Amino acid sequence: MNRICLVLLVLSPLLLCARPWQFKFSAKISDQEVKAASLSGTLTGAGKMVEVKDGTVCQLSKYSGKIKRGTKLRAAAITVVDMPEDCERFIGIGADWFVSCFLNGQQVLSTEPGGNHFTRISPYNHIVKVKFKKGANHLALYIRPRLYQWKFAFKIMPDISMLPAHSGDRARMIAQMFPPANPGLLRKELVHQLSCDSAAVSCQFGSAVICGVRFRAEKDGQSKIIWNTLSGKRIARKIHRFQLKKLLPETVYNYEIVTLDTNTAKITPVSSGSFKTFPASGVDNSFLIISDTQVAPDIRQAAVKNMLKLPEFGKADFVVSLGDVAENFDNFEMHYFNWFLNGFYRKNQLKPLTIVKGNHEYRGNGSDIYPEHFGRSYYSFRHGDVFFIVLDTGEGGETVWKPGHHLLYTDTAQLLAEQQEWLERITASEAFKRARYRIVLAHASPFKYHAKFYGNTIRKLAGKFFFGAKPAHRIDLWLCAHVHYASRFDPATKNMVGFKFPKRSKLKVDADDLADINFPVITSDGPGQGGEQLSVTSVKVSDDGINVRITTPEGKVIDDVIIRKGEAHHVNSSVLEKLF
Ligand SMILES: [Fe+2]
Ligand SMILES: [Fe+2]
Repeated sequence: MNRICLVLLVLSPLLLCARPWQFKFSAKISDQEVKAASLSGTLTGAGKMVEVKDGTVCQLSKYSGKIKRGTKLRAAAITVVDMPEDCERFIGIGADWFVSCFLNGQQVLSTEPGGNHFTRISPYNHIVKVKFKKGANHLALYIRPRLYQWKFAFKIMPDISMLPAHSGDRARMIAQMFPPANPGLLRKELVHQLSCDSAAVSCQFGSAVICGVRFRAEKDGQSKIIWNTLSGKRIARKIHRFQLKKLLPETVYNYEIVTLDTNTAKITPVSSGSFKTFPASGVDNSFLIISDTQVAPDIRQAAVKNMLKLPEFGKADFVVSLGDVAENFDNFEMHYFNWFLNGFYRKNQLKPLTIVKGNHEYRGNGSDIYPEHFGRSYYSFRHGDVFFIVLDTGEGGETVWKPGHHLLYTDTAQLLAEQQEWLERITASEAFKRARYRIVLAHASPFKYHAKFYGNTIRKLAGKFFFGAKPAHRIDLWLCAHVHYASRFDPATKNMVGFKFPKRSKLKVDADDLADINFPVITSDGPGQGGEQLSVTSVKVSDDGINVRITTPEGKVIDDVIIRKGEAHHVNSSVLEKLF
């Protein structure tokens, strides 16, 4: 078998940048010989000098001479790194296609047998922390090609321990030194929390950048930029969220997401879009709700795809994510964006979003990032004379003081206390008092019948405002999810309808709840509890009342009613049965 074996001897002092590299060629090299060479610092064979800039890709076949097709190739490269003291540093290696790296006789990295994984060869493909000793260190690579593209790239990374501790500066400098494959916007920005006078815009970059949003009313508006700042300083972050306030109602706003390059003081637009604020008066509006998509990502994506085909979707003013997008958020972005909202992006049909937090959005190591994307999890907004209250009903239980338990991480009592203070202010506002309809969007139902912990929790949170025969404030509808079975409570008849299952028909509504809950409660469907796996709830508000229609994402009707103040629900169509 023909075998051309090459040995490269790369001699380099401490600073590898702009130093000539010395190549030496030798026959019959093996990984064990390269390992031994990294201990002795010596490889046998012929060689030549070549200029290779630090961190750039070196095409080995340029120096190996003509290679006969079918030849099995092996290469070795060795360098000397001088260090002034014992230290730990990161080194970066990429190779087409297999590489093993040895330092002073020890293997520190290998891409055998899987290969480089990244097609674009760069020293950022594989980064590993290594220990250098004071003085000369011998670092050797053993490289095998694939398909005759025979390359490698190597770099000693900057000493990041010398970076400033300030998180913004540090993040920006690290982003400059270690550029990710996609440093730009990772996806189209989100417009959410839309109201008649405000909106939120959120975006995410592959690396930390200073970011702002420039916006103006489409007709005759003055352009304005707001930056993501911390105590007045523009800060570099990957995730940015902007609250646009004092907007005009029913007005089209054009915006641009912009970044600031502090080296050139240049502002660069990276994305643009527009939104229309909700009207200041009138009650006509419609929206769609999807929740509890705790199913395999492909089933969730299919549900979103089907939802986009519903005729109600095209007419909707906004879409509500009513919580529990996934079971666990160890990787928040994958679940919330790639496997849920991505369906909207692909069709370029992303409506303004109203994000409601479910108990599962508290779970998993990646769930901490939720507020960075979406801000405070309880808020209110107006669509004309319809006042919406978005509640965060928190986690599904009290803190469990056991290592690793998901309820060890949440303090629902503290969340409720601060939320109650906010509810106090909201319900005292003129906008709330004047509203012709008041709708609550909450992940959990107020009924103990549905979930005892939540029933008690919500009574503590909202009871003084909305509960009782003569409540302090009347609400017209409570829309929720969480229990994974569709149901509807009619306060005029005190009937609860739902999918009937043996264990459910044995349950009874608590007498206190029956006496105190005097507003309609409609619960969306969900997986694993009988009925349909997933549902879409379409809501249309008009002077005539509130039409709520629960369907499957494919459009099969589960329940379709009109709710009018003080009247029993007018049922257009329903497959739900009386539960008690
Ligand atoms: Fe759920
Ligand atoms: Fe839930």
